[in-house]
Amino acid sequence: MKNNRLIIISYRLPFSIQVQNKVTTVKPSSGGLVTAVKSLDLSASSQKPVWIGCADFTQRTWEKHRHEVNDDFEYVPVFLDKATNKHFYNGFANSVLWPLFHYFPSYVDYHDEDLAAYQTANQQVCEKVMELLQPNDLVWVHDYHFLALPQLIREQEPKATIGFFLHIPFPSNELLRLLPRRCRDYLLTGLLGADLIGFHTNDYLIHFLKSVQLNLGLPHTLAKIFNQDRAVQCQAFPIGINYGLYNDGYNQPEVIEERRALKESYPGKIIFSVDRLDYTKGVMQRLDALEAFLQAHPEWKGNLVFILVVIPSRDEIQTYWERKQMIEQAVGRINGKFATLTWVPIVYRYASLSFPQLLALYTACDVAMITPLRDGMNLVAKEFVASRQDQQGVLLLSELTGAANELGEALLVNPLDEYEVADQLNAGLTMAPEEQQRRIAIMQQRIAGYDVKQWANEFFESLLTARRGQEKSP
Ligand code: UDP
Ligand code: G6P
Repeated sequence: MKNNRLIIISYRLPFSIQVQNKVTTVKPSSGGLVTAVKSLDLSASSQKPVWIGCADFTQRTWEKHRHEVNDDFEYVPVFLDKATNKHFYNGFANSVLWPLFHYFPSYVDYHDEDLAAYQTANQQVCEKVMELLQPNDLVWVHDYHFLALPQLIREQEPKATIGFFLHIPFPSNELLRLLPRRCRDYLLTGLLGADLIGFHTNDYLIHFLKSVQLNLGLPHTLAKIFNQDRAVQCQAFPIGINYGLYNDGYNQPEVIEERRALKESYPGKIIFSVDRLDYTKGVMQRLDALEAFLQAHPEWKGNLVFILVVIPSRDEIQTYWERKQMIEQAVGRINGKFATLTWVPIVYRYASLSFPQLLALYTACDVAMITPLRDGMNLVAKEFVASRQDQQGVLLLSELTGAANELGEALLVNPLDEYEVADQLNAGLTMAPEEQQRRIAIMQQRIAGYDVKQWANEFFESLLTARRGQEKSP
């Protein structure tokens, strides 16, 4: 790693630059990918890492404001034209791959022109990589926006060292096969240009190996796929968090102050959730469960609050803005049904949170209610556990998240079963402090033992090993 420069490629850069009414603001981006990549510790490398991503600003804005972003990475924005970006990002990436890979086939809206834009965007990003690529660079491609990129780079530079990591689930072939054959073959072949392909869990890995076998007829042994003269190593690397950052956050003065303010405003029990606006996060089902809970347990009325934070995301896509309206209607309806003149059960906020606000919520709450219908990993669950220096609080977690594999001491629920979720919510609210401590302590030990640093180091080691293996093969 010392002699290798890292080139990271993801759709999202860790900041966005927005111009509104002639005022420009540089804002941090949301989501698990950005959280993970920006907290990598790359001090071992002697060269500054490069981060290539797609710009949501113009070249002119970038020239004017680039000095306002941190200099941890050399940021290289790619400026896709508006139409290409729309068909690529809103279209193929987020209206085909995202719903399909999260087991929402009925939300897939497939158009050949969106696939064509996906190909164009992958091609344009490949050109940018080729402009920058030097011998010894490690190329690390991230997520479903760039499934085709490894093979495009490989065709230009057969000796490149290329790793790929998927931040979302890889679904069963039963889902993948719903795509036109030419499309799924293109995506799988594109990925196989990498030396190493990483997934969050073994289940996703097995789905991928089987899809490659069934669609491309390529065999695998010990998770290594044999593709003509090359071998592609596949492996599960469950992504970690910057454990110290969240654990130490407990005692930051701003966090202490925000926590005090929260506890003062809500003296009863506090339940919270925070997710991007996304149908995969199961917010509507969570609200159904809360309603079932309030119905079954009237003794809690007036004695708790549910703080529901939704982070704006992808709101140009119909399934997303519609979801926002549905959530807001449901919040209004439930509050209308159960509120008294001096109490409302749900406090709703549609906005991003600052780090102290997020930490205050994590550390003030009694139950973290994290119930996605499908989630590749879910970093919020791990951050919540890490932040609880007091070893109190209960994690109520959907078994359909990647994180559930590592967090077996949480109260695990099927998010679709509102009665089970309501029951477990009651169990969480009444759990003895000793039991809360026992569960959090075990989970903390596990998360601290494999944080984002170990995750990245293990990925780089496997990548270099895979590359050395290629050089040895005839
Ligand atoms: N997060 C954020 N902005 C906020 C609140 C939270 O970026 O206002 C972060 C949160 O800390 C976590 C990430 O967004 O690191 C969400 O990751 P997760 O894996 O839970 O879900 P994703 O959004 O990637 O689907
Ligand atoms: C998930 C995806 C990321 C994406 C993030 C935020 O974490 O895996 O690739 O960046 O959501 O979504 P957005 O569409 O705003 O980039």
